[in-house]
Amino acid sequence: MNVVLTGASGQLGRCLHDRLPADWDLAGLTRAELDITDGRAVARVLARLRPDCIVNAAAYTAVDQAEREPDAAMAVNEQGARHLARAACDIGARLIHISTDYVFDGHASRPYAELDSGNPLNAYGRSKLLGERALRQACPSSLVLRTSWLYSEYGGNFVKTMLRMARAAGTDAPAIRVVNDQFGCPTYAGDLADAVIRLAGSDPAASGIYHYCGADVMSWHGFAQEVFDCAGRRDAAFPVPRLVGIAGSDYPSLARRPAYSALSCEKIEALGMRRASLRDALPKVLARLI
Ligand SMILES: NC(=O)c1ccc[n+]([C@@H]2O[C@H](COP(=O)([O-])OP(=O)(O)OC[C@H]3O[C@@H](n4cnc5c(N)ncnc54)[C@H](OP(=O)(O)O)[C@@H]3O)[C@@H](O)[C@H]2O)c1
Repeated sequence: MNVVLTGASGQLGRCLHDRLPADWDLAGLTRAELDITDGRAVARVLARLRPDCIVNAAAYTAVDQAEREPDAAMAVNEQGARHLARAACDIGARLIHISTDYVFDGHASRPYAELDSGNPLNAYGRSKLLGERALRQACPSSLVLRTSWLYSEYGGNFVKTMLRMARAAGTDAPAIRVVNDQFGCPTYAGDLADAVIRLAGSDPAASGIYHYCGADVMSWHGFAQEVFDCAGRRDAAFPVPRLVGIAGSDYPSLARRPAYSALSCEKIEALGMRRASLRDALPKVLARLI
């Protein structure tokens, strides 16, 4: 299968590269090689490569910065998605596009299902929800795969931030303050990459929205605790810090975030996909980082 991957140097893009199936002929394109905000370039490159499948791992992902530059977030997450969807339809390629739990407002008391209404609290979430809608309009056969709280050995993410803070502070430092009233599902980008690969090979009739995330629901504070427990088990000399839970309202950030954004994954599980627990996935990542 000929596959074009956009955003090839991001967390998901790099994890996909690491797991390439033998029958994939992949053209992984970084932003420098294909800027998805450039509609003409998208149409030209995809008409030349004529892939069977396009995986869009490109996105504007700076959640707080998006409050300052919502147009930049929109250009990538909404218009970029539309450009890809139009080009996918023109050449008859299957498009798999990644979206986020932040399309939801977090008022639910059970995991969000694929067809629950989106109501984003921040500019990033709005741009991603509009991207999903643009996709549906321009190419209804596209697949949207929503995920949450991505971490990996690559790029910038919560796990790497926690390790960096602990190393910088040492054991005598004051406690690290982590939000304990926002709940979601940490997801290893490698497991998400496996889900993308399975979806790409699924029945061509499969379309619409799917959810895929890690199996455990927890707060950022609980996630940090798991990271440090695992780091301490890997390396007895790791400077495991003290943690203090704080309210999201006491943590200075530009963007509001949902209090609860667990995703129900029953639809994708019905295709035979298994969700990994944090305790299975996290040690694989820490083995690359510690
Ligand atoms: N990270 C999370 O916690 C999280 C949670 C839920 C959903 N998601 C979604 O999951 C997907 C993958 O996220 P990720 O964490 O792998 O993202 P990431 O590490 O931030 O990677 C995004 C990639 O997109 C590229 N990019 C940005 N603007 C572009 C443009 N105009 N044209 C082409 N490429 C562009 C970036 O290039 P540069 O490196 O050059 O900037 C980067 O390589 C995204 O759709 C994201 O919205 C992420």
